Amino acid sequence: QELQMNLEQIEKGGYDHFMMKEIYEQPSVIKDTYRGRLHANEGLIKMAGIDDNIERFSNAQRILIVACGTSWHAGLVAEYIFEEFARIPVEVEYASEFRYRNPIINDKDVLIAISQSGETADTLAAIKLAKEKGAFVFGVCNVVGSSISRETHAGAYTHAGPEIGVASTKAFTTQITVLTMIALRLAKLKGTLSNSDYHRYLSELEMIPEKVQEALQTNEVTKQIASVYKDAQNCLYLGRGYNFPVALEGALKLKEISYIHAEGYPAAEMKHGPIALIDEQMPVVVIAPKQGHYDKVVSNIQEIKSRSGKIIAVVTKGDEQVRALADHVIEVPETSDALSPLLTTIPLQLLSYHIAVMRGCNVDQPRNLAKSVTVE
Ligand code: G6P
Repeated sequence: QELQMNLEQIEKGGYDHFMMKEIYEQPSVIKDTYRGRLHANEGLIKMAGIDDNIERFSNAQRILIVACGTSWHAGLVAEYIFEEFARIPVEVEYASEFRYRNPIINDKDVLIAISQSGETADTLAAIKLAKEKGAFVFGVCNVVGSSISRETHAGAYTHAGPEIGVASTKAFTTQITVLTMIALRLAKLKGTLSNSDYHRYLSELEMIPEKVQEALQTNEVTKQIASVYKDAQNCLYLGRGYNFPVALEGALKLKEISYIHAEGYPAAEMKHGPIALIDEQMPVVVIAPKQGHYDKVVSNIQEIKSRSGKIIAVVTKGDEQVRALADHVIEVPETSDALSPLLTTIPLQLLSYHIAVMRGCNVDQPRNLAKSVTVE
């Protein structure tokens, strides 16, 4: 028994929970994920799974993305990135919906399946269906040799290492890293980004691990914010553009491990429903980095404030305008809009972690949840 305990302590590498260890591993695993693939100085992305099948990608009339849970959120971020960088239409679907609705698929389609475990039953079934209909199927998996990685025509691994905590953290940011590199590779192929934008994104992506490291310094402030809101019954997460999926993911993390009801919404949709919920009891997490639709988000913040909602804002370092309005601010380093999810998601992971710990929840193994869902 004692030996078992010690082993687990060692595996957690000095952290109280696997989730925290995995959150802190993100700077190094993002680097592992792009190592050997991203060559910013030479202006190159080398990914064997893409390069070997470049015809399939260059002829793709659209890209379908299927996934579940957090991986589906990474797919949503990828939708925005692919369309912006490579100008290829993208559809993102829950694998469970896709597989049962007789979807229209043909041999000009590229389907990307995203899965940390590579074992999710619905995602696997969606792949089999797309293959039968002639699509080229590409996997973005973390677990080497997993069912999905074997069932796909080609793929790119995330190199996140084993993820033990049921709530996905480092898998999410490494998935986004892989998908961003694919989008950049295709942008280069299709000439859809200007030369200067292409090179700027490459070097910004290279700097992301350092900036994630800096974003992890928000740990203390998020812990303090967690202590204020740990007993909340509900929580709303709002973001726009690239940070709309981050709002969904932030809400999912809170639900999963602290059992607080949370919803993520595109900030502008707030007035079509969730605004009715806002009162002085309601914490609203707003993702408001300087790049992107900043002014629009600021006016959403004003709407929340005038209804006495409690505002927790994730902002770019040095922001003054939101600071003057919000109850709490969490600062992350500056980067371009498209890469900002890799940074804004970090304090949201930490916030849910601290709230769950303060509520005495089982952070690594939340009730009713499984790390990989191998049955439908
Ligand atoms: C489960 C896990 C989630 C995960 C989802 C998809 O619900 O608890 O953390 O995001 O499955 O898993 P996959 O392994 O396919 O990414």
